[in-house]
Amino acid sequence: MTVLRAGVVGCGNVAGNHAAAYRDLPGVELVACSDVDPARAAAFAARYGAAAATPEELFDLGLDVVSVCTPHPTHEAVVTQAAAHGVHVLCEKPIAIDLGAAARMVAACEAAGVTLGVLFQRRFWPAAQRIRAAIDDGTLGEPILGHASVLLHRDTSYYTADAWRGTWATDGGGVLMTQAVHNIDLLQWFLGEAVEVSAAHATVKHGAAIEVEDTAVATLRFASGALATLSASTALTPGLGTRVQVTGRTGATAGLAEYPEGAEARIDVWAVPGAEAVTSPFGPGLSADLPLSEINGSLAPFHALQVAEFADAVRDGRDPAVTGREAAKSLAILTALYASARSGRPERVPSLNEEITV
Ligand SMILES: NC(=O)c1ccc[n+]([C@@H]2O[C@H](COP(=O)([O-])OP(=O)(O)OC[C@H]3O[C@@H](n4cnc5c(N)ncnc54)[C@H](O)[C@@H]3O)[C@@H](O)[C@H]2O)c1
Repeated sequence: MTVLRAGVVGCGNVAGNHAAAYRDLPGVELVACSDVDPARAAAFAARYGAAAATPEELFDLGLDVVSVCTPHPTHEAVVTQAAAHGVHVLCEKPIAIDLGAAARMVAACEAAGVTLGVLFQRRFWPAAQRIRAAIDDGTLGEPILGHASVLLHRDTSYYTADAWRGTWATDGGGVLMTQAVHNIDLLQWFLGEAVEVSAAHATVKHGAAIEVEDTAVATLRFASGALATLSASTALTPGLGTRVQVTGRTGATAGLAEYPEGAEARIDVWAVPGAEAVTSPFGPGLSADLPLSEINGSLAPFHALQVAEFADAVRDGRDPAVTGREAAKSLAILTALYASARSGRPERVPSLNEEITV
């Protein structure tokens, strides 16, 4: 097996999930990590048994793959730098905060012949795979109705801890852009191409610290005629986790629930005639909200699955499970959601191809 030389750019909260995955994956060597903060890179590299490099040095180390774990608006610069050096690149979600940037990233990687993958590790939950399979094998039939709820807790200190969080320019949005993007991705993976949305959002709890939304509601219309609803907030105490549910043309419904936030989602509703099962994601009581480090840590097994799938795709010269084009679909929906919240009218979901001009 060819040994892939891996690097990580950005050594903050989520980067450890990537570094641990590369370190533990047979056939991959974690070579180096970099950060604009050299002390942070040094401590992180030591923790994962890799070298620390400056962002300039990193791409001279003969890497095959790199993970991009920097704030969303910086994804474009790092991904295009990787492409320019012929390095395959696995970028954290959301792919970018505007569709033009996503288009430039996709175009740069396609022109350079490097593989671009984007982290949506919640697709790798067995429960999500089971719902996708029930759509594909006809158990649910063509989806006609969906729902996603993202009912989370954040302390205001979450937004004040890092300067980039909570502004339109540097975070690109609030709960929709940063948290609900995972569930929007699952909705569109299950229901297909979204064509029109209506949305409203508000800042109901964290307004002293952020200018973006902490609460939002929306309806979505899909090319197939399917409809879905979405509600999202970081204003809950305690948080109630997330749910995604799909009803198919057979009338059967399947839903998954993630509780507490970060835990592996389980099927909580399997309303398929003859095989019905319903469970509550909540135990006897509601557990306390977990610190961010624990939420990110509990996502690590699914990061590891997606990193392994990405490494296989690079070796096999095929598309990974979540390509840049695929990841741009949730960003296109987000673009329309924010446009609708601003205009007060339904808005068409733009397509990535309209943005790619090369
Ligand atoms: N897949 C998931 O579930 C998940 C979970 C958490 C975060 N994320 C995503 O990961 C990204 C990072 O989030 P985080 O919470 O780890 O952020 P963070 O602020 O904790 O870490 C970001 C790091 O990047 C560094 N950095 C900034 N600009 C850089 C640049 N140009 N080059 C090199 N380093 C740079 C910062 O110094 C910091 O150490 C975000 O896009 C976020 O949405 C995804």
